[in-house]
Amino acid sequence: MTQTPHAPLAIEELRRVCATAHFGGTILYFDRIDSTNTAAARLAHEGAAEGTVVIAETQTHGRGRLGRTWVSPPFANLYLSIILRPPLRTAEAPVLALVVGLATAEALGTWTPLVGLKWPNDVLINGRKAAGILTEMDSAQDRVRSVIAGIGVNVNGRTAALPLELRDKATSLRDAVGHPVDRVDVAHRLLSRLEARYDEFVRQGFAALRGPWDALSCLHERRVEIEDGARRYAGTVAGLADDGRLRLRTDAGEEVFVVAGDVTVVGGYQRP
Ligand code: BTN
Repeated sequence: MTQTPHAPLAIEELRRVCATAHFGGTILYFDRIDSTNTAAARLAHEGAAEGTVVIAETQTHGRGRLGRTWVSPPFANLYLSIILRPPLRTAEAPVLALVVGLATAEALGTWTPLVGLKWPNDVLINGRKAAGILTEMDSAQDRVRSVIAGIGVNVNGRTAALPLELRDKATSLRDAVGHPVDRVDVAHRLLSRLEARYDEFVRQGFAALRGPWDALSCLHERRVEIEDGARRYAGTVAGLADDGRLRLRTDAGEEVFVVAGDVTVVGGYQRP
């Protein structure tokens, strides 16, 4: 597969390589859109099938977690959302972000061994953010109707072009491997990996993915502080529980399970 960097995504090629798959069998492509998550949510509401993908060259209102903006310049990166219809209760849905994160990390890991996961849903390369995941749910009477899994991957963006305050926090696949990477190839590997991990999750639950997730975690045995909106936790990460909650050993020796939150690694990723 060949693609000139900073050319439009070769969408027909992506459709061709995904044609027989469940995830990506239908792909809607937009040159420019507000947010692929918003468009996918609309389609899901209208009854679009699981596995339908919305992909855009650029987003005018790309959204990140916690109300943040996801800056989405054209031609360099991937911005895509996929419709999922998992047989779950609403309380079980947050773990899907971990499933998507694992698949994304494994797909990027086929280019570089420096990939890691930062709970709950950041994919890092060499300790810097290379991809982010935003899952949004629609539900009825305690059952999930759909989850939109939005994935933004920094593929060919250059760290040097980022605002100063982001340069030591973000990176791209291109910066990691030293040459431009084909976006069709990234999207294809990502969707295949996601289909495989999602099927495993639906059949066996998150417990089956906990081991692979923990193996890629950048937080294991790190000292962290976690803000979940209501509480602030501090302690050492002891891994994940079978339901995807983060296990934390507090300084008082207590074990706590954190459901969601924003994690700060004390002292960064350098080991003492
Ligand atoms: C985060 O790390 O804060 C999550 C970022 C998620 C960004 C992706 S890009 C495709 C999809 N559409 C959006 O508006 N957001 C997600």
